[in-house]
Amino acid sequence: MALCKFIPIFSEYYKNCFKYPYKVLKTSEHIQKLITLLSNASIDDYSRILNDFDFDSVDFEPFQSWSSQKYTRNCLYRDANFELILLCWEKGQETAVHGHNGEDCWVYLLDGEMEEVLFALDDLDQLSYESSQKIISHQLTFMNDKIGFHKLKNTNQGRSISLHLYAKPIERCHVFDESSRQFKERVLTFDTFKQLVFED
Ligand SMILES: [Fe+2]
Repeated sequence: MALCKFIPIFSEYYKNCFKYPYKVLKTSEHIQKLITLLSNASIDDYSRILNDFDFDSVDFEPFQSWSSQKYTRNCLYRDANFELILLCWEKGQETAVHGHNGEDCWVYLLDGEMEEVLFALDDLDQLSYESSQKIISHQLTFMNDKIGFHKLKNTNQGRSISLHLYAKPIERCHVFDESSRQFKERVLTFDTFKQLVFED
């Protein structure tokens, strides 16, 4: 089924997006299929959809960008219900410890190897280590604020690439500042924004 997406310029979700390098891409039918599946599904079905999806059929190369300074966030698709963001990690790059602003987050590791470290707040509201896990290529993980906080690090001996699904889209989140040992609110940004447009 062909899906035509028009971009409502007054939408809160797109106001944010126009700040970024913007390019319209015509998509392969495979990534269109994933977005259509997610658009037509309940959030309860997202894990199953992602686990069942053949990510090897999608060429993510046009969406990649790389920086020696930090991992990059590259938006593939965003509407009122969810966003798909491709993260590109050079060796050793990592996030700060962060929350997810009450939203649900799925991470599918397309290529490479990551480490996820989980944290919680103790009785004194201090951040405390909970556990860590290695994430391997083609593994799906899930995170939200009920689970706690986490950080992700590229532990591969080279680049890693991960696809992040946030439902709903996350405009800002709490990030732990190591120097002050406190959480601070951060407005999230994209390094690239290539909204997908489907053709009839
Ligand atoms: Fe996260």
